[in-house]
Amino acid sequence: MPLREICWLDGRLVPLAEARIDPRDRGWLYGDALYEVVKVRSGAPLLVDEHFERLRHGLSRVEIPEPPGLERALGRVLAASGLEDGSLYIQVSRGAGPRSNLPPPDLPPTGLVMPQAHAHPGEERREVGHRVVSHPEVRWAHLDLKTTSLLGGVLGKLAARRDGANEVVFVRRDGEIAEGGSANFFVVRDGRLVTHPLDGRILPGVTRRVVLDLAAEAGLEVVERPPRIGERGEWREAFLTGTLATVRGVTVFDDEPVADGRVGPVTRRLVDAYEAFERSAAGG
Ligand code: PDD
Repeated sequence: MPLREICWLDGRLVPLAEARIDPRDRGWLYGDALYEVVKVRSGAPLLVDEHFERLRHGLSRVEIPEPPGLERALGRVLAASGLEDGSLYIQVSRGAGPRSNLPPPDLPPTGLVMPQAHAHPGEERREVGHRVVSHPEVRWAHLDLKTTSLLGGVLGKLAARRDGANEVVFVRRDGEIAEGGSANFFVVRDGRLVTHPLDGRILPGVTRRVVLDLAAEAGLEVVERPPRIGERGEWREAFLTGTLATVRGVTVFDDEPVADGRVGPVTRRLVDAYEAFERSAAGG
């Protein structure tokens, strides 16, 4: 069944074509907004509690109240849109008011839930690796907040596309790798998984958390410290994790193959474990 083009905006379900956001909305003017992307599989939204925990934590940090009815809106949008496979985009901005960098007090926040239909990667993706390019960390200092102010990330993605790559990874001046443009980054080195710790300099990815749990179940050892670009020659594997990427092998890094240039056994194991996790979370 084709997707019905509707969204939930400030408490109401409206046709997408009729949805109107005030030009003075601070999300538009200032990027003064947070967002989430929740995957939908077989009509079921996945990991909703985890996404809302991150969103609520972020909203309280940036002092934006939660729009009433936001979480219930997910079910309403799924029912009204008929979305089976895709994602729900959720955005909360500080609201609309006279333009002033300092927000006027007590603005009602703007809340949006919008369905997006897209196919999810099939089995073949288990074998297909991503090409990744490194890029200087040009983003800001609160990367743990899932803000819509994504210009730094967008510039990195544009640079990656110019280089024929699928994703960018951001590298700080000291050679530490933070994360991808829209995914967290892992390497396998000395038989261990290495990934950046949650210290405010990356997004605490929902998929990252699940993958760490699956790795523990599989008896894999994990070290939470930043992967370093200088250790690149010792990587046996590399992969990305994200809501839409799920677990995706990285086979080319800055135009050079990672190890033998194929998706490695640890990555494949986690791809399969994540697929099984999602299938069961979506009801089988
Ligand atoms: N991006 N790091 C960054 C910078 C991200 O933007 C994302 C997600 C992740 C992975 O987080 P999670 O596993 O919770 O999806 C890591 C979303 C999907 C996006 O911007 O579309």
